[in-house]
Amino acid sequence: MATSLSTKMLGFMERASWIRKMFEEGARLKKEHGEEAVCDFSLGNPDLLPPREFQSALKEAAALEGPGVHGYMPNAGIPEAREKVAQVVARDHQVSCSADDVLLTCGAAGGLNIIFKALLNPGEEVIVPRPFFVEYGFYVDNHGGRLVPVSSAEDFGLDLSAIEGAIGPSTKAILINSPNNPSGAVYPADQLRALGELLEAKSREVGHAIYLVSDEPYRRLVFDGVEVPPVLANYRNSIVTTSFSKDLSIPGERIGYVAVHPEAEERQALLGALTLANRILGYVNAPALMQRVVARCMDVSVDVSVYQRRRDLFASILRDAGYTFSMPRGAFYFFPKSPLEDDAEFVRILQEQLILAVPGSGFGQPGYFRIAFCVGEEVIERSREGFAKALEKCG
Ligand SMILES: Cc1ncc(COP(=O)(O)O)c(C=O)c1O
Repeated sequence: MATSLSTKMLGFMERASWIRKMFEEGARLKKEHGEEAVCDFSLGNPDLLPPREFQSALKEAAALEGPGVHGYMPNAGIPEAREKVAQVVARDHQVSCSADDVLLTCGAAGGLNIIFKALLNPGEEVIVPRPFFVEYGFYVDNHGGRLVPVSSAEDFGLDLSAIEGAIGPSTKAILINSPNNPSGAVYPADQLRALGELLEAKSREVGHAIYLVSDEPYRRLVFDGVEVPPVLANYRNSIVTTSFSKDLSIPGERIGYVAVHPEAEERQALLGALTLANRILGYVNAPALMQRVVARCMDVSVDVSVYQRRRDLFASILRDAGYTFSMPRGAFYFFPKSPLEDDAEFVRILQEQLILAVPGSGFGQPGYFRIAFCVGEEVIERSREGFAKALEKCG
């Protein structure tokens, strides 16, 4: 009998099957050699415990009683939480943001989905610099759009001429992610300024606003005192989305937000569309309990120095072995060059050394591989010999 499932979904599952294969191979290696023997750097799942402030805010919020505490609410979120988010956005992005410009969402993933639902007509395009978070293609497709990857600079900074070359009448948005998963790059202020100017000019040329969408769940995870420059301040038709998944180590709680530039051209209609999208995509609203919790810990984050120590240790291992890589300035990933052109083959060689990594092809950037440092220093240290041997094996 013919399948009753969506042909598109079957295709997506096939495309995503390398992730499953890697996962299965990792599980097989762990079973055969023991959990302890395998160095698993494949997942960006934060391993640090949430900060103490989060636990006390959770207890406080859980103790709330009374009418409406667990009821439906305005789809954009609880006013108190929107107010707190607006203050942080105003500070981080140097705009006069108010609670009306903000919606609480089910993580950054939920944020991106309502943004694309609000912006895209069928066939319209979203430009993204490579390498990029693997799910972007699916999110854009969810709303009938088309993801258009463009190259980045050698150091993974923005390649403005590549972006300019890709903009056409169907371009609806540019999607950026800084600090970047997987490259660890942080886009400097002058690049964001130039991007804003480019989009201003190009919007005039194509006759509609090209939105700048900034996905920034790693904004607080930066090293060596790096500051992530504001995005909204550079371009009025811009939207920020983020989550508390990484800085509070709570990805399972599905909480984040979207903020629209207060002077965006169609601000009112856009905010209305985002709010309705939150509802009709089935999120309805972000989890009530978590909205109350994050409102109480807006300026709290995990101890970033733990990630920085791991990054420095990993850098020494990769450098000593002879790998080529850019030092990550934020997030918790390295994205070194694969010593073989075939990055999937190199990841297989790493597996022989009981090291699990992800091929760069999964991020639209073949010839590289990603390793996540969401694991203890002892696991990173244990991989030293394996990384050296894998490189030797490639000659
Ligand atoms: C760049 C990027 N964007 C969005 C997400 C989704 O974040 P969340 O799980 O908080 O929705 C992730 C998760 O890893 C990510 O790395």
